[in-house]
Amino acid sequence: VVDITKLYAQTGAFTFDPGFTSTASCESKITYIDGDEGVLLYRGYPIEQLAEHGDFLETCYLLYYGELPTPSQRKEFDKNITYHTMVHEQMTRFFQGFRRDAHPMAVMVAVVGAMSAFYHDSTDINDARQREIASHRMIAKLPTIAAMAYKYHIGQPFVYPQNSLSYSANFLRMCFAVPCEEYVVNPILARAMDRIFILHADHEQNASTSTVRLAGSSGANPFACIAAGIACLWGPAHGGANEAALEMLKEIGDPAKVPEFIAKVKDKTSHIRLMGFGHRVYKNYDPRAKIMQKTAHEVLTELGIKDDPLLEVARVLEQAALSDPYFIERKLYPNVDFYSGIILRALGFPTSMFTVLFALARTVGWISQWKEMIEDPNQKIGRPRQLYTGAPRRDYVPVTQRG
Ligand code: ACO
Repeated sequence: VVDITKLYAQTGAFTFDPGFTSTASCESKITYIDGDEGVLLYRGYPIEQLAEHGDFLETCYLLYYGELPTPSQRKEFDKNITYHTMVHEQMTRFFQGFRRDAHPMAVMVAVVGAMSAFYHDSTDINDARQREIASHRMIAKLPTIAAMAYKYHIGQPFVYPQNSLSYSANFLRMCFAVPCEEYVVNPILARAMDRIFILHADHEQNASTSTVRLAGSSGANPFACIAAGIACLWGPAHGGANEAALEMLKEIGDPAKVPEFIAKVKDKTSHIRLMGFGHRVYKNYDPRAKIMQKTAHEVLTELGIKDDPLLEVARVLEQAALSDPYFIERKLYPNVDFYSGIILRALGFPTSMFTVLFALARTVGWISQWKEMIEDPNQKIGRPRQLYTGAPRRDYVPVTQRG
C-alpha cells in the first residue's frame, strides 16, 4: 500500500520523520538552541544575561521586534502594553459560564480564543497595524486573563490591573490581592516571577509554537492561533510537565524513597517517567534549569522557608538520576520544569495554575513566531504529508450484505 516511489515522483523528495526529530519546519531568526552545549539565545543574547540583567517586558520587545529597545522605544512599548491591560468588561461575564472547578487551562483556551470576538478590530492579518495591536493586546491582557482564571477558580472577586506596577508585580497583585486588605508586592518575589516569565518566553519550534505556526499558516486570526498554542501546551509532555513534576515530588514525599522511585522509572513496564527530566533538544543540562534552581533558593530564603522537603526530594532525585547509567546513557538532565514548580508553589500558586503561567510567558514567543511567519513572503500553508498504511482500494458493500 505504501508507494514511496510514487510519493517521491510527485514531490522530488519524501521524508518520513514522525515527531519531526530531524526536519526543520521553518526558518527563524528568533531563538537559537544548542542542545549539546546547553546554549539558549534569544535574538543572539544568552538567556543567562537576559535573566540576570533584563526584565520580561524588555525580553518581549526583543523577541517581537528583534532588538533590545532604546530608552524611548522602551517607554513607548511600556505605554502601549499598559494601555491594553484591562479586558473588555463583558469578558468578566464570560467567565461566569464556567464551573468553578474547571481546570484554569480549559478556561484559558476558551477565553483567549474568544478574544477574537471581543477585539475583532485587530483580526485582519493583512494589516500590519492590526497585527501589532493584536500582539500588544495579547502580551498585555494575558496576565489579566490568567489572574481572572485563578480568582474565578478560588471564588474571589477579580482584581483590576494597576499600571504603575511592573508587569510581574501587577500580575502577582491581580492574583493575590483581596479587596479588604492592603497588598504590597514583595520585590524579590516579583523579580522571581519576572525571571520565570523570561525563561519561558520562547523556545523555538516546540510543539505549541509549531501548533501556533500551523494554525496561523491557514490565515487564522492571531487570537485563535494563540488559543491553539495554549491547548497544545496543556499536555503533560510539554507545558503540563511542571504540574506533573511537582505532583511527582509530592508523591515521593521523602528523600529516602528516591531510590525506590528511580527503580520504578527504570522499569519500562511501569510507564513512569521522571517528570521535569529529559528534553527533545537538550542532551546536556537545560540552561534554564540552572537559573531556576538558583531562583528557587532565593525565593525560599526570602520567604523564610528553611529545609523545604520538596526541594530536598528534588535535590536528592537530581543527584541520583545524574549518577545513574539509565539517565546518563539517554542524556536525560533536569529541564526548566524540574524546579519551577517549587518556586510557583512557594509564591502561593496551586499546581493547576502552573501551566497557565507558562502560557502567559510563552504568549510573546508564540506571537513573535506568528509575526515572523506572516511577514515571510514565502509563507505557505503547513500541510505535512503522510505514509498511508491503511486498506487498499475496495468496493462498497450495502449494510444488508455485510457480516
Ligand atoms: N524519564 C525516564 N525516561 C525517559 C524520560 C524521562 N523523563 N525521558 C525520556 N526517557 C527515555 C525514554 O523512555 C527512552 O528510552 P528508550 O530509549 O529505552 O526507549 C529515551 O529516554 C528517549 O526518549 P524519547 O521519548 O524518545 O525522547 P523524546 O526526545 O521524544 O522526549 C520528552 C522528550 C517528551 C521531553 C521526554 O524526555 C519526557 O517525556 N520528559 C518528561 C516530561 C517533561 O519533563 N516534559 C517537559 C519538556 S520541557 C518543556 O516542554 C518546557
